[in-house]
Amino acid sequence: MEKKDMDWGNIGFAYHTTDQRYVADFKNGQWQEGYMTGDATLVLNECAGILQYCQEVFEGLKAYTTADGSIVTFRPDLNAERMMDSAKRMEMPPFPKERFIEAVEKVVRANAAWVPPYGSGATLYLRPYMYASSPVIGVKPADEYQFRLFCTPVGPYFKEGAKPITLCVSDFDRAAPHGTGHIKAGLNYAMSLHANVTAHANGFDENLFLDPGTRTYVEETGGANFLFVTKEGDIVTPQSDSILPSITRRSLVYVAEHYLGLKVTQRKVKLSELSEFAECGLCGTAAVISPVGKIVDHGRDICFPSGMDEMGPVTKKLYDTLTGIQMGTIEAPEGWIHKI
Ligand code: PLP
Ligand code: COI
Repeated sequence: MEKKDMDWGNIGFAYHTTDQRYVADFKNGQWQEGYMTGDATLVLNECAGILQYCQEVFEGLKAYTTADGSIVTFRPDLNAERMMDSAKRMEMPPFPKERFIEAVEKVVRANAAWVPPYGSGATLYLRPYMYASSPVIGVKPADEYQFRLFCTPVGPYFKEGAKPITLCVSDFDRAAPHGTGHIKAGLNYAMSLHANVTAHANGFDENLFLDPGTRTYVEETGGANFLFVTKEGDIVTPQSDSILPSITRRSLVYVAEHYLGLKVTQRKVKLSELSEFAECGLCGTAAVISPVGKIVDHGRDICFPSGMDEMGPVTKKLYDTLTGIQMGTIEAPEGWIHKI
C-alpha cells in the first residue's frame, strides 16, 4: 500500500480531508443501509435539528500501524457502546454496535493510504458522529438523523508532545450537575470554547474544570480525564458523574493494576489536595497521556515534582505500556485490539 506523501512527524492535531467516509441515514423509524462516499460536504435544511437545538453526539478513536505492519483499532466496541449511551441521553436513535464497528472497518480500509506508518508519531483519528438532520422548530427531538464516520491523520494533541503542559483552574464550568458532562455530545465542547480561548489567551494549555455543584473537586479538562500519581507511586483518578468515562483512562487503570502492579483508587479528588501528588497526566484518545507540570489556581502554583522538562517515571511507564499494546509490541488483553 502506497502511503500518502505527508510529513507525518509534523502534522499536528488538524483536519485533513481524506478519501472516503461512511454515511447511514435514520428515517421512517429505522437505520437505513450505509454507504461510502468521496464527498466531504453536507447539505442541510436550514431548520435541521443539529443547527437549531444542537442534537448531536460523537466519538473519537484511532487506527494504528503496528510494528508488523498491520492496521488495528483500539477497543472500538467501547466507543460504539458509549455512543449508544450518548444517543439515548440526547433522545436520538442509538446506532447499532455491530454497524459502528463495520463502519470503522470500512473507513479504515478505504483510507489505508492515510494511516500513518509505524513509528512516525502520527495515527489515523476516526470521528464517528450523528446529528439531527430533519427540520424542528418546536423544541423536540428530530425525526431523521444521519450517522457519519470520517478519518484524518493526526499528530500529538498538545503541541508540546511529551513535554509537560500547564493548566489553569477555570472559572467556568463545562457541565452542569445532572447534566450531560458524562456523554460525548458536541454541546459540551461548545460550552468549553470560551473557557479554552480564555485559558489560551492567558498563556495556559488547557483548563482544569471543577465539579459544577460545589467547585471543590477536580473533574477533567475539555478533552481528557486526569490521572494522578501519589508520592508512594500509586494511581488516583477522579470519580464523578459529570465527566466523560474515558476509554483510555479505563484501559490505563487496567494496565496499572495488571501490567505494572500498581494500586489504583478511583475517588473524588479535592482541588486542595493536588499539591500532595507527585505526577499528573491527562489521558484520552487524542491526548494519549500528556504530562502536566503545573496547575495554576488563581495565582497559586501547584507544581508537580516530576517537573516541567519531561514525563514523570510512573506516567512514562503507563504511556510506554499503553502505546506498546496499541502498536503491537506488548501483548494486549483479550479483545482490546481490533485488527482491520
Ligand atoms: N474527557 C473528555 C471531555 C473527552 O472529550 C475525551 C475524549 O474523548 C476524554 C475525556 C477521553 O476519552 P477517551 O479516552 O475515551 O478518548
Ligand atoms: C478524543 O480524545 O478523541 C476527543 O474527542 C477529545 C477532543 C478534545 C479532540
